[in-house]
Amino acid sequence: MTPEARVRAGFATQARWCEAMAAPFMSRLCTLIPDALDRSTVTGARILDWPGDPIADALPMRLTGGLNALVRRGRLPALAAHYPPHRAGGDLAAVLAAAIRDADAELQPWLDGPPQTNEVARSVVLMAGLLVIAAETGLSVELFELGASAGLNLRLDAYGYRLGGTVVDRPGAPVELIPRWQGASPPAAPVVVAARRGVDVNPLDVTDPATRERLLAYVWPEQAERVERLARALDAAAADPPPIDREDAAGWVERHVVPRPGLTRVVLHSIAFQYFPADTQARIAAHLAAQGGLATAEAPIAWLRFELEPGHELPSLRLTSWPGGADRRLAWAHPHGARVDWLL
Ligand SMILES: C[S@@+](CC[C@H](N)C(=O)[O-])C[C@H]1O[C@@H](n2cnc3c(N)ncnc32)[C@H](O)[C@@H]1O
Repeated sequence: MTPEARVRAGFATQARWCEAMAAPFMSRLCTLIPDALDRSTVTGARILDWPGDPIADALPMRLTGGLNALVRRGRLPALAAHYPPHRAGGDLAAVLAAAIRDADAELQPWLDGPPQTNEVARSVVLMAGLLVIAAETGLSVELFELGASAGLNLRLDAYGYRLGGTVVDRPGAPVELIPRWQGASPPAAPVVVAARRGVDVNPLDVTDPATRERLLAYVWPEQAERVERLARALDAAAADPPPIDREDAAGWVERHVVPRPGLTRVVLHSIAFQYFPADTQARIAAHLAAQGGLATAEAPIAWLRFELEPGHELPSLRLTSWPGGADRRLAWAHPHGARVDWLL
């Protein structure tokens, strides 16, 4: 297959995924983009001759993120007229081609790297797991988040929740998360976060306006509720930035996570473990098993993870608890936390 054929197939695949994820505008955009490109622009030449795997490199999302950023800041009004919630008539393909020509230079940095996101509604799933941990240990928790990105889920106790019949009230919360809930409700135990810290090879600074705009640009424009939720969570985080260290997760876990009397030390992560090198994954698992062996009822350790499992379409929430090392699957959930199938 030529690079161009691979790129066309990649955009077609992305268009199908967007359609399946109830994003018809994004689907249309991904369908039209390959024909809106030619090699007279740097953007067109780079994309059509992309040397790597367009899907693995998230190539469609690199370009649509860049276009969305420019639309959001009013830079491409003719294209913006087609973006949700607007619905201009006329030839979107021609408008798209003109926009890419016009913004050719500004789109280059967007093609340089893959999107980095931070989905705040994953807090739904993680909070449900923390309710189980709090109910079983009766202790406050200390959070250690791996692959924390901007740290929005490290601040999960700042948000309000309705998880089935269990309500976690936070008056004045910037975000209230109410997923579609299937199954029994999680226990209504008080979750008290005594301390928190995150790690990421590339932590995002929530106080930086450019980072804020970049995160917002990767959310699909027709998902207005998600955009609004992210903006609110980012504003709240900017006023109280979560502490995130810049390094690989393995050495960080090895240095920080040991049992501590009076607290449950919780290692948690969402849609991040798959991106860690195999050696990092193995070191984290080995360290937790070793320290888990030293844990007691007064100094427990928990490993809470919302991650893809091989052979399954949806990610699951799993919890390993020490002492004992019992490992349980607590839920299956939509990758953005929109729906939770609770298994307990
Ligand atoms: C898909 S994002 C998920 C971010 C966040 N957990 C969420 O659910 O929104 C994966 C994150 O893992 C981080 N990451 C990748 N490899 C890592 C490593 N070896 N150690 C720490 N973080 C890593 C990336 O920088 C990125 O922020």
